[in-house]
Amino acid sequence: MSRTFFITTAIDYTNSAPHIGHAYEKVLADVMARYHRLKGEKVFFLTGVDQHGQKVQQSAAKEGVAPAEFVRNLTERFVDLWKKLDVRYDEWAETVSPKHKEVVQGILGRLHKEGQIYKDKQSGFYSVRQEQFLTDKERGPDGKYGPEWGQVEEREEENYYFKLNQHKNWLLKYLDAHKDAVVPDFRQTELRNAVERLSGDLCISRPKSRLDWGIELPFDKNFVTYVWFDALTNYISFSGYDPSQSTFNAQPSTFRDRWPALQIIGKDILIPAHGVYWLIMLHALGFPDEQMPQLLVHGWWNLAGSKISKSAGNVIDPNALADKYGADALRYYLMSDIATGSDSDFSEERLVGRYNTDLANSVGNLLNRAVNMAQKYREGVLSRGDAPLSRIAAEHVPAFGQAADRSQISVALQEAFSLSQKCNIFVETVKPWSLAKKQSEPLNVEALNAMLYALAESLRIIAILISPVVPKAAHGIFDQLNWKMDMSSKEERFSLAHAEWGGLPDGHVVGKPVPLFPRIETAGSG
Ligand code: MSP
Repeated sequence: MSRTFFITTAIDYTNSAPHIGHAYEKVLADVMARYHRLKGEKVFFLTGVDQHGQKVQQSAAKEGVAPAEFVRNLTERFVDLWKKLDVRYDEWAETVSPKHKEVVQGILGRLHKEGQIYKDKQSGFYSVRQEQFLTDKERGPDGKYGPEWGQVEEREEENYYFKLNQHKNWLLKYLDAHKDAVVPDFRQTELRNAVERLSGDLCISRPKSRLDWGIELPFDKNFVTYVWFDALTNYISFSGYDPSQSTFNAQPSTFRDRWPALQIIGKDILIPAHGVYWLIMLHALGFPDEQMPQLLVHGWWNLAGSKISKSAGNVIDPNALADKYGADALRYYLMSDIATGSDSDFSEERLVGRYNTDLANSVGNLLNRAVNMAQKYREGVLSRGDAPLSRIAAEHVPAFGQAADRSQISVALQEAFSLSQKCNIFVETVKPWSLAKKQSEPLNVEALNAMLYALAESLRIIAILISPVVPKAAHGIFDQLNWKMDMSSKEERFSLAHAEWGGLPDGHVVGKPVPLFPRIETAGSG
């Protein structure tokens, strides 16, 4: 039975160009989506851009353009990058779209009518960067607000508040009863501790006098919605949610089918945005506990141990890297050199190193050998015989699946490369070229046939396993194996169910060898 899998990712602020962290998150979500499609599950992969808010309004003003034009231009840069990186989503969320606005206003109207939103006055210190009032809890040990809050100023304002605190006990109970609400475990513990400390409600409006780049409150024209309330709602507004229905079961079936979601987010937006605001918003909207999204929290790419930031001037441009090394090389590096949930250090040298070791020297070399030898010794024709590698493949495929099911992509990839390594060792041990010299002996003919079949078959399986991460290369392997050519440009060419030994029929003819992963030569690698 296939189950609907729904993957959404945090949408990026459009006040800066996309950087390597954005690319990582998007590729991770794309790989997860492709993996679940590979398993035959129905997938709905939603992602997009978060276009409203004060930071956007300020950046647009600085450039002297209207916010709408500013976000249009920046959105294009994100869209172009996802195309370049082969990120294939099913739905694109832009928070300026009328459909989204309708849902945000519908939700606000309903919560207001139900008494979950009230008006109040507040004065105090306000962080322009985080768009929120600060309390003493946010002060550092020196009594000052740290640089993470950016510019902090004193303000007094009337605003609308969402009764967040009223749902605190529900959230604690929910987290206690659902141990995998947040993955990895230590993030759930962090969230639970933060909820324990929760006090006060959430200000969900901004007076138009200082921010008009947002969605207007349906019950007060003088205000727009707080950007997080607007942005978080994208997960349901672009999945077909009907705000006029207050019970989950009354929602349209397209929406119910797509929910609950797996949401892939960075560690910085778990607390409070997704872990507190979002879960409580859904609960207040009538979502039952079993329909709460699961939050998969990934770590960050750093540079030499420090945070990558525009102000530190160490931003890494994924566009330039994709142009230089190709989308597959960048995708492979971003998926293989970090454990999902942990941080990692970005290094261009490691990108090149991993590519050369795993892709060029291992899989690329194996493919070249396998197809070359099949052509040279058997004019490309494979004969099914005793399969010397079948048992090894039968161990790596389930191990791959177990890791990928837990979103541990780097561990899953290791299984595919381990199989490739074993094939290369096998070639070096058996030395098919010496078998080929003595073809008058029937045993040698049989052994060579078995080896050629086993290498091609292992490569077919490896291509399926790595296809979510390096789709172009996986197509390249299938092409050279001359496999499923009638579906050559289609993704359905790959299916995890086909990663079972024996797919290539007796007498199958492989294609011509073409170098797949040419080594990246850098100065000094000579
Ligand atoms: N717009 C909000 C998300 C709204 S969700 C409804 C936002 N945008 S962001 O551009 O600041 O970040 C987008 C995502 O990129 C976040 O999940 C964030 O954790 C992730 N990353 C930002 N820098 C990163 C790294 N250096 N490394 C990995 N991911 C990083 O938050």
